Amino acid sequence: MTVKTLQDLLDEGVDGRHVLVRSDFNVPLNDAGEITDPGRITASLPTLQALVEGGAKVIVMAHLGRPKGEVNARYSLAPVAEALSEALGQYVALAGDVVGEDAHERANGLTEGDVLLLENVRFDARETSKDEAERGEFADQLVELAADNGAFVSDGFGVVHRAQASVYDVAKRLPAYAGKLVEKEISVLEKTAVNPESPYVVILGGSKVSDKLGVIEALAGKADKIIIGGGMCYTFLAAQGYNTQKSLLQEEMIDTCRDLLERFGDKIVLPVDLVAAAEFSADSEHKVVALDGIPEGWLSPDIGPDSVEKFAEVIATSKTVFWNGPMGVFEMAPFSQGTKGVAQAIIDATADNGSFSVVGGGDSAASVRVLGLKEDGFSHISTGGGASLEFLEGKELPGVSVLDR
Ligand code: 3PG
Repeated sequence: MTVKTLQDLLDEGVDGRHVLVRSDFNVPLNDAGEITDPGRITASLPTLQALVEGGAKVIVMAHLGRPKGEVNARYSLAPVAEALSEALGQYVALAGDVVGEDAHERANGLTEGDVLLLENVRFDARETSKDEAERGEFADQLVELAADNGAFVSDGFGVVHRAQASVYDVAKRLPAYAGKLVEKEISVLEKTAVNPESPYVVILGGSKVSDKLGVIEALAGKADKIIIGGGMCYTFLAAQGYNTQKSLLQEEMIDTCRDLLERFGDKIVLPVDLVAAAEFSADSEHKVVALDGIPEGWLSPDIGPDSVEKFAEVIATSKTVFWNGPMGVFEMAPFSQGTKGVAQAIIDATADNGSFSVVGGGDSAASVRVLGLKEDGFSHISTGGGASLEFLEGKELPGVSVLDR
């Protein structure tokens, strides 16, 4: 692949040029609309700072959540603009729209080294349209903001697995470059994707079992062990015949999980005990139970201490470890122990066994910071959840392959 990088663009010169940057600012917010983990904002700084220093007129495109093509104040990038201003140490204006009058006026008014953030690109339904012509029309309007001699920098690693207008179609219309974050993520993840040192342990959690089945299939050949916890483990436990009561369950996936257990049972490691809670709330009554011991009508929001110990033993022997998805509802203190325990086991394996450890994306990366774990205890914390998984699966990432010229 021949991909031009930010350095190539800086060498060509950006002084006075409009540069459209796609960043991933899909950060977690609490009920008050405050950012609970600014990791993705921090990770975007090297590229933005380099462009500012080079004198570019920077226009950042990003999404927040899934507003489904409608303007919705809940998904406004206002908190991001504020946090980014603070992190960059300079005022970042937020356009009142995406490609409307305000965005145009502000883009025209930029001077060298200014940064403008457009409103959530997903407020426009064309951003995520499956129709290439619709996406193309929107991409044309985004490109118009960059005036003549504009350029595009792809730096939102977390979103490069989406063939969306601001990620993919804009790249086709402008001289396009990989930003520092995309470059770094790809080079680190390649180490895990190509010839990972064995024993290679993959840890999967999070809620959507359907999103991760492909990874299990794809990694079963490479990984020595696949640990499964978090919201997705209940569908596997149901496939083994356990009554998971009101725990998260994707019923339509039970047969597929059974099939995976039959084929890769020697590699898959499941919990051996659980935390059960009467209700889905931080102050609910809760207790540690055996797999067949969830009381009627209760649910399980976390794995139990014996599971953590069992998982930690496997992780301790690893030379490569990839972790995607929390082990439980870590946002609620009583149900954070599973995630904390597994994360600590990865940190220990990194320090004591020289294991190359990668935390893949969104929720798991956020959990490391929210739970106050040592960020530099891991070899790499990726900003991409779905993107890093798809990369490891060997799938093509449209937002990266489009940069190949
Ligand atoms: C993410 O959070 O993984 C990325 O920002 C992509 O978001 P999406 O899954 O809504 O496309």
